[in-house]
Amino acid sequence: MSDRETWATRLGFILAAIGSAVGLGNIWQFPFKTATNGGAVFLVFYLAAVLLIGVPAILAEFVVGRRTKSNAIDAFAELGHPQFRIVGALGVFTGFWILSYYDVVGGWVLRYILGSATGAYFGNPAEYFGAVSAGPEAVLAQALFLIICMSIVALGIEDGIEKATKVMVPSIVLLMLALAAWAATLGGAADGYAYFLTPDFSTLTANAGDVIPFAVGQAFFTLSLGMAIMITYSSYIDEDDSLPVDGGIIVVTNTLIGVLAGLVVFPILFAIGVSPDTSGPSAIFVAMASAFGQLPAGRVLGVLFFGVVLIAAVSSAISLLEVIVAYGVDNTGFSRLTLSFAAGAGLFVLGLPSAWDTAWLGWFDTLAYKLFLPLSVLLVLVFVGWVLSGEAVAELRQGTGGLGAFGPVWLWMVRTVVILAVILTLALGLQTLFLGSEPAIVPPI
Ligand code: PFF
Repeated sequence: MSDRETWATRLGFILAAIGSAVGLGNIWQFPFKTATNGGAVFLVFYLAAVLLIGVPAILAEFVVGRRTKSNAIDAFAELGHPQFRIVGALGVFTGFWILSYYDVVGGWVLRYILGSATGAYFGNPAEYFGAVSAGPEAVLAQALFLIICMSIVALGIEDGIEKATKVMVPSIVLLMLALAAWAATLGGAADGYAYFLTPDFSTLTANAGDVIPFAVGQAFFTLSLGMAIMITYSSYIDEDDSLPVDGGIIVVTNTLIGVLAGLVVFPILFAIGVSPDTSGPSAIFVAMASAFGQLPAGRVLGVLFFGVVLIAAVSSAISLLEVIVAYGVDNTGFSRLTLSFAAGAGLFVLGLPSAWDTAWLGWFDTLAYKLFLPLSVLLVLVFVGWVLSGEAVAELRQGTGGLGAFGPVWLWMVRTVVILAVILTLALGLQTLFLGSEPAIVPPI
């Protein structure tokens, strides 16, 4: 596989990985979950989850990908453990599953850009959401979103994903900064910040059983873990990059963009007096839309806001599509173009129920969040921590000029704290799954 593609530059890899991490999870889910789960106190839990669990786990995926320079399934065989290919397969499956409904939401975002430009939702935002979020219109929008993603992935790593994310990620940051600066001038800014970040210990203690698994689950989802993405992206990098440094940059930027999203969303909602007391789709698609309907220059602001959301969603979705295409490129004689469109067609079909009815979307999401994602992360961690072990530390050391105690500390974190936290998350998730509590991301509407 000497002609396997690589990133043209280290920055290209970092930006692509940030593009994957920064997605709907940051803009849509994170601010609302933070606000309703204890504000700044939740933020502390979330940061702890990201640092203690997310960072060791992302490094574990990087190690597998870079060591083997292979797609996420064959990587396990290349490491001498063909029986663990099932772990990679579960990651690819989880990604496929998640992308099947993520692209439906991507389609909604496309409709909202159009709706902002024409002012179509200004009259009745809730009715507009009902009309575009399910049924034939949602199917069409889902197909359009997929076509955008397939076209980028079909162009390849360097010419497609790297070039696209080099423009997309800086655009996300700049547009969000501009929106946050403008939002700060609104009358509701101080109330918005207070709602977002005021520490609230009582909510946190009342929901402790939910908050911890949610913080951990959010850390995985937002860092694109458990979907074989980071294994695949790191398979295109060189041995002379420092994985801990790259991972640190990706994690910090991802978190900052989530916080920035909160600084955009809440001042806008409070300025107009729209209740932010909702989570899931209505939070961003109905509440934000109501605000744009009432603000001066609402059309321009709506296009800008949903434009950022679209860029974030596309740069995430292409990372998942690449996971599937990478396996095909390594194992079949088909071209990248054919494989991208074949994967897109498969995703379109699996996504049809979610596009048709948001209750299906909620069901797909719940299963992903509570079962597939934590299970997939857990198996990778067990493999890296207990099977690969010393070899994993050796790979982590490559390109760092020496890790000191960090290597063994990382390995032991993966072997113990991280694995235990994931088992706990999985157990609590399964318990709520079977007790039928509310889905984590997209409550059925
Ligand atoms: N990190 C992404 C997010 O926060 O939205 C998660 C993700 C979801 C990545 C779906 C890729 C994807 F297709």
